Amino acid sequence: MTARTSQEGVRLSDGVSIPLIGFGTWQLDGDDAYNGARAALDIGYRHIDTATAYDNEDKVGAAVRDSGIGRQDVFITTKCPPGNAGREAQTLDASLKALGVDFVDLWLVHWPPNGEARPETWKAFIEALERGKTRAIGVSNYSIAQIDELIAATDQAPAINQIPWNPFAFDGREVAELRSRQVVLEGYSPLKRSDLGNPVLAEIAAVHGKTPAQVILRWHVEHGFVVLPRSQRRERIEENFDIFDFQLAPEELRRLDALGA
Ligand SMILES: NC(=O)c1ccc[n+]([C@@H]2O[C@H](COP(=O)([O-])OP(=O)(O)OC[C@H]3O[C@@H](n4cnc5c(N)ncnc54)[C@H](OP(=O)(O)O)[C@@H]3O)[C@@H](O)[C@H]2O)c1
Repeated sequence: MTARTSQEGVRLSDGVSIPLIGFGTWQLDGDDAYNGARAALDIGYRHIDTATAYDNEDKVGAAVRDSGIGRQDVFITTKCPPGNAGREAQTLDASLKALGVDFVDLWLVHWPPNGEARPETWKAFIEALERGKTRAIGVSNYSIAQIDELIAATDQAPAINQIPWNPFAFDGREVAELRSRQVVLEGYSPLKRSDLGNPVLAEIAAVHGKTPAQVILRWHVEHGFVVLPRSQRRERIEENFDIFDFQLAPEELRRLDALGA
């Protein structure tokens, strides 16, 4: 897949389209969350990633409202903390209230509760989907074996697995395993966990007149991986979205993939 426009999305198994690039909000508190999300929406992002645990859903919701962009035009993800297993419905209701919305676009199990797949939690997620409180459901930080446990118990695969991801963590087997189950790979911490000074990255960035961070983000979207960069600086929020005017050659993609070997 080669994303050519900033609004290009990936179709999730249940027919919902998720924009390939989303604004991450972990560790953005108070004004930083509000200002970051406002800047991102102003620049063109139409996808924001938050979580109950980030304690900023109210700021993200206010930013979406104040942006003047229609609710249906912004993709909002939030996540249920593992410690709230057993209280899933109440947790989602609290998220909707904090965000000030009637539904979210994607709701994730943030971590396997107590390190376990927990089909009971997944059943509560399916119920929330059926009740229209979220347009899609998925997981985060799940192993393939844990995903298989959920599928075996409910016959419904998560639409997404949100996991740490970047070229240095690239694992073709993981990609194939997720694809074969129609689970979209959503990468988190794309920049923080990367070596931005790596010479291969620097060389490819120089060829395109881009920064190493932009090459990493472009690598994600060309592979069809959803990616969630976070910054509290407007210029970087802008830089991280300015990745739709260049294309990586197949050989460059292969060299970047090989960083994960
Ligand atoms: N599901 C999970 O368990 C989980 C875990 C972690 C993250 N996430 C999600 O994924 C999002 C992104 O991950 P993350 O916040 O861990 O890390 P990240 O986006 O990989 O990195 C953020 C760091 O990179 C810096 N940065 C941003 N743009 C840059 C650029 N163009 N060049 C150089 N440095 C840059 C930021 O500093 P400045 O702010 O100073 O620019 C910040 O220190 C989170 O915000 C969250 O939404 C999910």
